[in-house]
Amino acid sequence: MVKLGHEVVGIDVDAAKIDLLSRGEATFFEPALPELLREAVQSGRLTFSTDPAAVRGSTVHFVSVGTPQKAGSYAADLTYVDAAVEGLLPHLAAGDIVVGKSTVPVGTAERLAAMIEPSGAILAWNPEFLREGFAVKDTISPDRLVYGLPEDPRESEKARTALDEVYAQALAAGTPLVATDYATAELVKVAANAFLATKISFINAMAEVSEAAGADVTQLADAIGYDARIGRRFLNAGAGFGGGCLPKDIRAFTARAEELGRGEALNFLKEVDAINLRRRDRVVQLVVEALGGSAFNKKVAVLGLAFKPDSDDIRDSPSLDVAVRLNGLGARVVATDPEAIANSQRMHPQLVFGTTDEALRDADAVVLVTEWDEYRTLDPVAAGQVVASRLVIDGRNCLDSEAWRDAGWKYVGLGRK
Ligand code: UGA
Repeated sequence: MVKLGHEVVGIDVDAAKIDLLSRGEATFFEPALPELLREAVQSGRLTFSTDPAAVRGSTVHFVSVGTPQKAGSYAADLTYVDAAVEGLLPHLAAGDIVVGKSTVPVGTAERLAAMIEPSGAILAWNPEFLREGFAVKDTISPDRLVYGLPEDPRESEKARTALDEVYAQALAAGTPLVATDYATAELVKVAANAFLATKISFINAMAEVSEAAGADVTQLADAIGYDARIGRRFLNAGAGFGGGCLPKDIRAFTARAEELGRGEALNFLKEVDAINLRRRDRVVQLVVEALGGSAFNKKVAVLGLAFKPDSDDIRDSPSLDVAVRLNGLGARVVATDPEAIANSQRMHPQLVFGTTDEALRDADAVVLVTEWDEYRTLDPVAAGQVVASRLVIDGRNCLDSEAWRDAGWKYVGLGRK
């Protein structure tokens, strides 16, 4: 937001985070963020505080807190959103705009609008589509903007004008804008993530069938991807989707549809979830099979722990899950990741972590589960010299199978020849 020309104060309840951020230090790994953050803090236009009163004087208030899956349920936990809005209430001035960015069940904005109404502030809903690993780029030049605006035309106009000012740079660059009502804006977000999840599970279902039929899912994806109506992106079969968004968003979406009496409409998302979870089982099964039926006491190098490359996020990570399961089967797992070891270690201190070299050394099997560049570009000849056995399970179908086979490896992909 500073880069977009604004003066910003960031509020969080976590004092340790606020401390680090105030010193210009990012609290997670995200390419290009550290430089940008330092620059913004040094400019004096970005400050941080744990005190909600620090929002006074701001005219636009973004609510961007998390909505994780509720314990013991598929529904979203709105505790943090409610707490953030309640924390804002005493400090809002008439005419201020509160902008919801959190991913919420449809209907939440209407409820929050009623909560803030007595303050004279106006609510808008402005879902976020950034991808981890590309967060800076996606924020500065988003591929679209969506405004969920109030029904009252005067309020709607005020909210729209404020958002147009916030996003003036992106709008001037021609970013498409959809201005709509609260419910549509809330639904756009979960519908987009549900579609992406469905696309991934579709290709993973094709991988299951390809495997049984002796076909190759990567070539299949290339071939159907040439059809512009289908497109090749998000058609990479492998260990499946994870992260803090897709898995919990499709679950919260089904829970909300059930509350709305339309559970049937989203039943297919349960299948999308089931296909996705089967992928992790399949990776583990393939490792065990390739090791001759048991992983016990076998040294397994697990390459990748983050749910995707260029991130240190391990929330619902298929890669970490695979490492934990193999470890549970008695394999001597050495797991590695360029950025996600510290987070993984906190959550699973029972695992052994190391560098790529330490993981590969004397390994009986190598399992690639997060397609970081440094793993995609591993030299099969050099790697072949340090392992005990040239066996690679490519959980992301991202290696050049021919090059690995030529270097003497047994190559196992997912639905891939
Ligand atoms: C996702 C959406 O892509 C963003 O648009 C959205 O803003 C964000 O969630 C959110 O709701 O905040 P993100 O969670 O960063 O972004 O990750 P994705 O790039 O969507 O990848 C999700 C998972 O799908 C990863 O585990 C990735 O490895 C997996 N994936 C992706 C595949 O298995 N195959 C593919 O072809 C693509």
